[in-house]
Amino acid sequence: MELRPGLSAIVTGGAAGIGQALVLALAQNGIFITVIDFSEEKGKQVASLAAKEVSKFHTELQFPPVIFIKCDVTDANELAAAFKKHAETYGGLDICINCAGISTAIPFYNDQTDGSRSWRHAVNVNFVAVIDSTRLAIGAMQEAKRPGVIINVGSSAGLYPLIADPIYSGTKGYLYSLLLYTQYSVH
Ligand SMILES: NC(=O)c1ccc[n+]([C@@H]2O[C@H](COP(=O)([O-])OP(=O)(O)OC[C@H]3O[C@@H](n4cnc5c(N)ncnc54)[C@H](O)[C@@H]3O)[C@@H](O)[C@H]2O)c1
Repeated sequence: MELRPGLSAIVTGGAAGIGQALVLALAQNGIFITVIDFSEEKGKQVASLAAKEVSKFHTELQFPPVIFIKCDVTDANELAAAFKKHAETYGGLDICINCAGISTAIPFYNDQTDGSRSWRHAVNVNFVAVIDSTRLAIGAMQEAKRPGVIINVGSSAGLYPLIADPIYSGTKGYLYSLLLYTQYSVH
């Protein structure tokens, strides 16, 4: 897909790191963006920077060029509401980048907790939420009857097992299967 002003994108995990860089790169092409992240302060800062860039391409907009939505991607209802808000604001969805991702701080086999703040949470962020987001993005693109692009940010750890963090490796490895399925099966 050729990046051009007027397209719209959702970026999860867009408040920091790679997600932030992607938000700013899209903004420098005049693309309207919804930044989704649970980090409110950083998310608002990135959205504000990106809005200045997008505004260079458009005059007298009747809607915000970039919006930030505070959302934990593991909350399926919050995530669906964010996609709805994006579609209502920008009339469709052209690009979805699922970038929110985390590693686990402690090996799962040494973890005495139920994992809800460690390995289980990593599975939910890196994999379950990416499935949710991919489904929502496909639905939005099909509804708008426009082809789109979905990028699920993986890692070499998904191809070459990371011994220090097998849960992270596993979740990133699952993403490759998801990619192959959607690439050949969704129209
Ligand atoms: N940094 C690397 O070296 C590297 C290498 C390969 C792959 N990756 C992948 O790239 C992606 C981004 O990595 P990064 O290093 O830029 O990370 P980062 O920690 O700098 O940024 C991740 C962002 O995601 C957000 N986030 C985390 N959990 C969330 C949740 N539940 N809901 C909403 N937002 C959430 C964080 O608030 C943060 O803003 C991840 O998927 C990671 O696995 C990173």
